[in-house]
Order: sequence, then structure tokens, then C-alpha cells
Amino acid sequence: MDLQLAGKIALITGGSKGIGRATALRFVEEGASVMLCARGAEALDEAAALARKLEGARVATMPADLTRLEDIRGVVARCASEFGRIDILVNNAGSARPGEFQKLGDEDWHDDFELKFFGYVRMAREVMPIMAGAGSGVIVNVIGTGGLRPAAGYMIGGAANAALNHFTKALAGEGAKHRVRVVGVNPGPILTERLKRFAERPAPGHSVEETYARMTPIGRPGAPEEVADLIAFLASPRAAFITGANVTIDGGANPGLIG
Ligand SMILES: NC(=O)c1ccc[n+]([C@@H]2O[C@H](COP(=O)([O-])OP(=O)(O)OC[C@H]3O[C@@H](n4cnc5c(N)ncnc54)[C@H](OP(=O)(O)O)[C@@H]3O)[C@@H](O)[C@H]2O)c1
Repeated sequence: MDLQLAGKIALITGGSKGIGRATALRFVEEGASVMLCARGAEALDEAAALARKLEGARVATMPADLTRLEDIRGVVARCASEFGRIDILVNNAGSARPGEFQKLGDEDWHDDFELKFFGYVRMAREVMPIMAGAGSGVIVNVIGTGGLRPAAGYMIGGAANAALNHFTKALAGEGAKHRVRVVGVNPGPILTERLKRFAERPAPGHSVEETYARMTPIGRPGAPEEVADLIAFLASPRAAFITGANVTIDGGANPGLIG
């Protein structure tokens, strides 16, 4: 199936590692140009070098801390000036700490919401007028099944993800007025560096392999490339009738009716 992504311009936050990098490489393979941002310049350069090995790739990078509004505005301005437009935004840069409720203070909640929730909201608010002006565009929010499966030990990330599921659907209503689609992706455990760090400290009595196997009913975590494939489809014209949907990709780990 031709995803019809050739010639599209995609801005991918957190595009230097993990799911963001896999998504960048998939988009480039499909003929899209990508603008990648993250804090660390070195990892950005490495991701860009990988992408540039692919034929015809146009890749730009910009170090940015997406907890800062001025950095968000800088990235959007750079993407628009470098490529002339923004067809696809993948809001992906995010993380939130686990921890016990009584041990997490206001600062912890604020810090994590600043990136994982407000980073997405602010980026969408900056990009939406550009897409609306063009009369087309797609925003993909990479969220997480933590929002669908409340857990005492992952309350900040769960709450931010739940809010982002809501935000995605609400923003789709706004986007529809301008022919801009808004979709969400809820990954379960995906084998990025972050998950590896967690699995390397397995529960007592379990090996790293057992820890991975117990993560999902199908006996393994997902690969970043599997999430990238879903994002590429949802961002593509092939998914033109999908908006306001949050799609779960978790190897069956979420047993709930929603997602
Ligand atoms: N992996 C999973 O199991 C999983 C499950 C559910 C949801 N998710 C979600 O999927 C998304 C990607 O996760 P991942 O596992 O691929 O993460 P990752 O491998 O840790 O990569 C995170 C990316 O975001 C960038 N980043 C982090 N903080 C940033 C900041 N303040 N400003 C700008 N960029 C920043 C990182 O680069 P720098 O550090 O250099 O800034 C990196 O490029 C996240 O939103 C995560 O919550 C992941």
C-alpha cells in the first residue's frame, strides 16, 4: 500500500531516539521530509545521519527543550522557514516519573506535566494556525496506555496521558473546522532505551527476559518500528476518515473496554 506520504513535511518532537527516531526513519523511507527536535544535539545528529542514508531524504534538526514555549516557537518557525509548511506534527517528546503518591510533590507533577501535557498542547497551538491556513494537516499525539490503566505507582504519567486522550478528541473537533485531523496513539511497553533501563532492574526472582515476557499477553514488548508504522498510517492520506481517535498498540496489555 502506498501511504502517499511522499513530499509531505513532518515535524517530529523527540525525534532523536526511540519511537520518535523510528517514526522519522519510516517517514523518510516513505519519501517525506522531516524536522526533528530534542534537547541533545549529539543524538539528533546521529538520527539525522541515519535518515540521510536513505535516498532523497531532506532532514533538519534543532536542539530544543519543549518545556519552554520559546523553544517550541523556535522549532515551529524553523520548520516553516526550512520547508515552507508543516503537513504533519508528531507530538512525541515526553516522559513522566513513576513513584509513590506521598513521595511526589507539586514540583514533580508540574515538571512532568510541563513536557508531556503542556508540551503537546503548546506545540499543537503553534502548528494549528499554519495547518489551518493551508487547509490541511495531521497532528498525531503519542500518548501511552498509562492513561487507560490507572495505577498508583504511575499517577503523574497516567493523569497526563488521560488528559491527552481527552485533548486529542477535543482538538479534533477544532481541527475539523480547518480540515486538520487529530489522532492519538497509545503505546503499551515499547522496547526503547527508557524501557530497557527499567527492565534491567527486574523484580526480585525475575530475569530481564522474564520481565520482558511478562509485559504483554503476547509475551514481548513492542518495537519502536511497530509504533512508527501505526503513526505513519494514521498520518497518511490513507487514514483520511480517522480523526478524534486514540489507537492502542500494546500487545493486548490493556484489558479494558476503552482502547
Ligand atoms: N517506550 C514506551 O514503552 C512508551 C510507552 C507508552 C508511551 N510512550 C511515550 O512515547 C513517547 C516516546 O517515548 P520513547 O520511549 O521513544 O522515549 P525515549 O526513547 O526516551 O525518547 C524520548 C525523546 O524525547 C526527547 N526529549 C525528552 N525530553 C525532552 C524535552 N524536555 N524537550 C525536547 N525533547 C525531549 C529525547 O531526547 P533528549 O533527551 O535529548 O531531549 C528523545 O528524543 C513518549 O511521549 C512516551 O511517554 C512510550
